[in-house]
Parts: sequence; structure tokens; C-alpha cells
Amino acid sequence: MNPPVECLDIAEWRPPLPDGVSVRYTAALEDGNVLYCPKLRFALSEPELRFLDPAVLGDNAKSLAFDPATGTLKHARGDQQKIAGMMQRYADAARTLVCSVLPRYASALQTGRTSFRPAGIEGRSTSLAKDDTLLHVDAFPTSPVADRRILRVFSNANRSGKPRHWRLGEPFADVAKRFYPQVRRPLPGSARVLKSLRLTRGYRTEYDHAMLAIHDVMKRATEYQRSVPQTEFFFPPDSTWIVFTDMVSHAALAGQHLFEQTFYLPVSAMVDQEKAPLRILERRAGRPLAAT
Ligand code: SIN
Ligand code: FE
Repeated sequence: MNPPVECLDIAEWRPPLPDGVSVRYTAALEDGNVLYCPKLRFALSEPELRFLDPAVLGDNAKSLAFDPATGTLKHARGDQQKIAGMMQRYADAARTLVCSVLPRYASALQTGRTSFRPAGIEGRSTSLAKDDTLLHVDAFPTSPVADRRILRVFSNANRSGKPRHWRLGEPFADVAKRFYPQVRRPLPGSARVLKSLRLTRGYRTEYDHAMLAIHDVMKRATEYQRSVPQTEFFFPPDSTWIVFTDMVSHAALAGQHLFEQTFYLPVSAMVDQEKAPLRILERRAGRPLAAT
């Protein structure tokens, strides 16, 4: 089994691309491939290298979190302005990349959080639901996506040769076939209660409910984790990759110093909406799932 990875030979965040290749990359991404750029590096300035020290994490969080829309920085210890500047630069670079490689998405692309994980993955004690060393698709408990995709850009900024070690699992259609039948419908009125108590930012649609349930049952399925077809992939330092993490089964086993930018893309902005997890689950359910 080959890993679902499409290699992009680019070394700039706004690369010159021959006509037509973006069509191929967009199709590969929508099909559930990782767009992997082995030579695309997020460079830190000399003074920023000090932020690679895990002591920059101000509390128990696993990541520094930055909101490019407001400039708010969380969980960081040290020079807040300089750290925010570094995070903003990553957010800008990631957006430039997506808009160049996937120009079709540019006008609809919404920018979410920027994160930086300065500590190693190994030995992080977490609950099963938060354990990203297990295969999963991404779903957010407090930020419903409704009819939007989760598109993420990752860059390995490690300076001591440590790759980011991932595992990639089966296609989403197979995940849905296996796990969607186990998903119970949300209790009537529960989404409204979650929203009014501000336990969610917005209305948790049936789709959000189902994706959270799939995320959790997948992680709890010990035998599945062991036996499902999966491939290893090692993202070396100074590489970058783009993934629809709501669709690609992934697990992060090892690595240190990861930048990540989250984007949201309305399903309607895809070349082929039928490939969206939302549409795949709706075909199984026989009804719309993103109504609010
Ligand atoms: C994840 O999105 O599951 C974690 C990615 C990583 O930390 O490499
Ligand atoms: Fe994930």
C-alpha cells in the first residue's frame, strides 16, 4: 500500500506553477491525498530560534494558539509581541501557499487558528479522545464547522533532524461505512442547549455531532487501530504539507516543533462537493446533515 501522498516540488510559498497543475493538486487533495512539499521550509529568524524551547509553552496546553483575526495569543511564555509576530508570519505564509497552489479556493477560504507545538509528542499523557497518536479524523467539540471543510497546513520546524512521524489510514468512505452506523442521532434540542450555554461556538449540526462521534469511536476501537490498513510517513524538518484533516485518517506518533494553520473551506467551494465527508455521510443518512 502506498501512502496517500502527492509530492509537490516547490520551494516557495508563492511558487510559480505551470498552467493546469493546480487542477491536478486540487483533485488529489479532494480525493484524500496529503499534498507534501518536501522542500518548502518555514524559516525562523535568528532571534526566533529561542522560541523552539518547550519552556515557551506557558501552561499545560500542547500548543501555543494564535488567532490571526484578532491577534490574540494564548499559552505562550516570553515576548508576546515577537511570538505573535512569528505566528502571524506563519498564518500569512500558509494562506499564500493555499491560495497559490489551490487558487480555486482563494476567494472562499476562511482563516482559523494558528498553532505551534514546541514540545515532543512522545510521552504526552492525555485522555483517549485527545490522544492524537491514534488514527482519527479531525472534529472540533466546541467549534462546529457545519457545511465547511477543515483544511490544515503543517510545517516541521525542527532543527535537530527529527521528522514528524505520522500514520495514514483508510479512505473516509471506508471509515464512514464502518463507523457511521454506530452513530446515534443527537438528542432533540441538544444542539440548541449547547449553543445557549455557550458550550459550543455556534450550532452543533448533525454533521458535527456525527464527526465527533466517529472521531471518538475510531480512537476507542483498539482492534481497528491495530489492524486497519495504514502506512507510515515521515515529514522531515523543513518540509510542509497540506491536508483535509476532516477526511484523511491520521495519527501523529513522534516529532517536535510543528507549525499548523487551520482554514475552513465551504463545501460549496470544492471542485467536487460529492467527495466531502459531509456529502458522504449525507448519502448514508439519506438526509441533509448540516442544517442549523
Ligand atoms: C493531529 O492533527 O492529529 C496532530 C498533528 C500533529 O501533531 O502532527
Ligand atoms: Fe488530527
